[in-house]
Amino acid sequence: MFSESSRDSRWVEARVDLAAIRHNVGVIRRIVAPAAVWAVVKADGYGHGAVPAARAVMAGGAEGLCVALAQEGVELRDAGIDAPILLLSEQPASQLDAVVTHRLIPTLYSIGAVRAMTDAVQRSGRSGYPVQIKVDTGMNRVGVSTGGAVDLVRAVEAASPTLRLAGIFTHLAVSDEPDNPFTSEQVASFEDVLARLPNRPPVVHAANSGGALAHPATRYDLVRPGITVYGIEPGSTLREHCADLRPALSLVSRVSFVKRVRAGDSISYGLKHTFARDTTVATVPIGYADGVPRRLGNAAGLVLLGGRRRDIAGMVTMDQLMLDCGDDAVQIGDEVVLVGEQGGDRVRAEEWAEQLGTIGYEIVCGISKRVRRVYLD
Ligand SMILES: Cc1ncc(COP(=O)(O)O)c(C=O)c1O
Repeated sequence: MFSESSRDSRWVEARVDLAAIRHNVGVIRRIVAPAAVWAVVKADGYGHGAVPAARAVMAGGAEGLCVALAQEGVELRDAGIDAPILLLSEQPASQLDAVVTHRLIPTLYSIGAVRAMTDAVQRSGRSGYPVQIKVDTGMNRVGVSTGGAVDLVRAVEAASPTLRLAGIFTHLAVSDEPDNPFTSEQVASFEDVLARLPNRPPVVHAANSGGALAHPATRYDLVRPGITVYGIEPGSTLREHCADLRPALSLVSRVSFVKRVRAGDSISYGLKHTFARDTTVATVPIGYADGVPRRLGNAAGLVLLGGRRRDIAGMVTMDQLMLDCGDDAVQIGDEVVLVGEQGGDRVRAEEWAEQLGTIGYEIVCGISKRVRRVYLD
């Protein structure tokens, strides 16, 4: 059933199953124990809604949260979430007072950031402020080099008692490829850094979802799963590892218009699709402005209507797309499932991703703000 509010406004909603998120955290916890779970709820909880997702992961047994941006951490604090929150990358200096005020744990990987953070903590009058260091072991995105890590740790220790080194971590580049030896190489570089430190920091971590599920050596003290918390596989090679996870998000709409077209008629922008036979076309009021990529135009069997898979006919437009329904009886108001379950069948975000040559992450993160999120529990 459509929620009351969506029925009144528009026939599109993203339903987020919070019980699925709790369940997924439980599955991950059992796999990685005794390591803890710090769930990643950046990018608005991968499109699921950061605050409800954060509450659900904590209820599922996560012990901390990770976000990309200071503003994302502030949003969680403003919603009353009290869990430890780790910022996964360095933040602009302008954000550091907010970081301290909201008790966010900064990640540092440069001397400049250590200094800026020391200043911000001193301005606040606090001391012993927890910070973590990120080491680049081969992803080459952000992090202190393995050669520079020990000096950076010393710099943080020299900033005591203002700062306190609470953890050290790295990030894995190919953990979704179980056979790729590069993960072991990253672990070896990370271990080498740990061995050169005067003391082992209180918390050591490395694993994203792929590491948590498929690479036991990366689990250390805690894991940082994101995509699997939402029930989506990090990559098709990890499908078996994800068998117990439940997708949390469904994207649902309704038929807004129905008509009969004739063989030889063409449809949508560019008239790129011509019907081979007379057929019924259902229009659905969802388009690329909502996060259904235009390139899904003419995708075969990707949308559920009347308990059957339908082809998208022609281009996806900004606000609407059309489905080829053959000779089936279709009515305005019939439920259309773009992601999720109907009639015993399920379309997964990963299926869209395969069609588009991308990953499930981009699909769920791409569902736009215009789509109301409705929470089921
Ligand atoms: C540093 C870091 N850790 C953990 C994650 C979670 O990754 P995943 O969603 O693959 O579990 C991310 C996400 O990109 C990340 O950037």
